[in-house]
Amino acid sequence: MILDGVIMRGLLESVIENNMPYTKDGKVASYIPLLSSANPDHLGICVTTLEGKEYSAGDCEVKFTMQSISKVISLMVAMLDKGTKNVFSRVGMEPTGDGFNSIVNLEVRNYNKPFNPMINAGAIVTCSLIEGENVEEKFQKVLSFTRKITGNDSIDINQGVYLSEKNTGDRNRALAYFMKGNGILQGNVDDVLEVYFKQCSMEVCCRDISRIAAMLANDGVLPWSGERVISREVSRIVKTIMVTCGMYDESGEFAVHIGIPAKSGVGGGIMASVPKRMGIGVFGPSLDEKGNSIAGIKMLQELSKELDLSIF
Ligand code: DON
Repeated sequence: MILDGVIMRGLLESVIENNMPYTKDGKVASYIPLLSSANPDHLGICVTTLEGKEYSAGDCEVKFTMQSISKVISLMVAMLDKGTKNVFSRVGMEPTGDGFNSIVNLEVRNYNKPFNPMINAGAIVTCSLIEGENVEEKFQKVLSFTRKITGNDSIDINQGVYLSEKNTGDRNRALAYFMKGNGILQGNVDDVLEVYFKQCSMEVCCRDISRIAAMLANDGVLPWSGERVISREVSRIVKTIMVTCGMYDESGEFAVHIGIPAKSGVGGGIMASVPKRMGIGVFGPSLDEKGNSIAGIKMLQELSKELDLSIF
């Protein structure tokens, strides 16, 4: 379907307007102290088509930190570095039904790897698989890949949010040390977490994440330049894991109501990739109890219905 620009812009404007009331529900994240200063009234949306056209509405230029959306990036970088088979010998492909920072499965279930690369434990393991001489080289790899797949060379980390998480990230330290103690995680824990905390604090806007999603929707090819950045196979795996695990213990409900591969972050962003159709980036910092943007989910639900985007 060719999207008419005028109709699309009008549709996105009304999606913002219709879902603005939901910004009053939920709460902004505060367990990373600096995230609590986010403005819960912000609401933005951007769509990038496979022809490279972009449509946006609301606070689409407002920056927010990627948080867990970055787990998709480290997964891609790890797969490029180590190969799919190697990566999935160290991290599983199964949804958990538990929260994103849950520790329970690591001990209670007889499983020698974290369930999937979208929960914190799994993302910490994928960060440990990225190749590089030192922490800085490994993180620079994640950052430059992010800049490439967004076409935005100005992306950088939000230093305040990075330090805020680093100073308070004891739960992630607990996960990492537990995995190191059990032989699931290799390498220096502080170094691995440094890459993880930094990637989570990369600052983006709706347009940036809609472009990443459009690349995934386009089977690994950047819509605006035609350059292939990941294989069709890696793109297929990433989208599949987004469907089953991207919204954590809300992934089932999200699949039923919206039906689009997506990944959320506690910064309030959701990156949604509609195969062969478009990438969508939404932002609304007020979260539900699972850590997903409430108004963001509502906007995706309306857009999915209006444009018949469900893959199911
Ligand atoms: O590790 C953390 O807790 C955060 N940096 C990321 C968590 C997150 O975004 C969960 N997603 N909704």
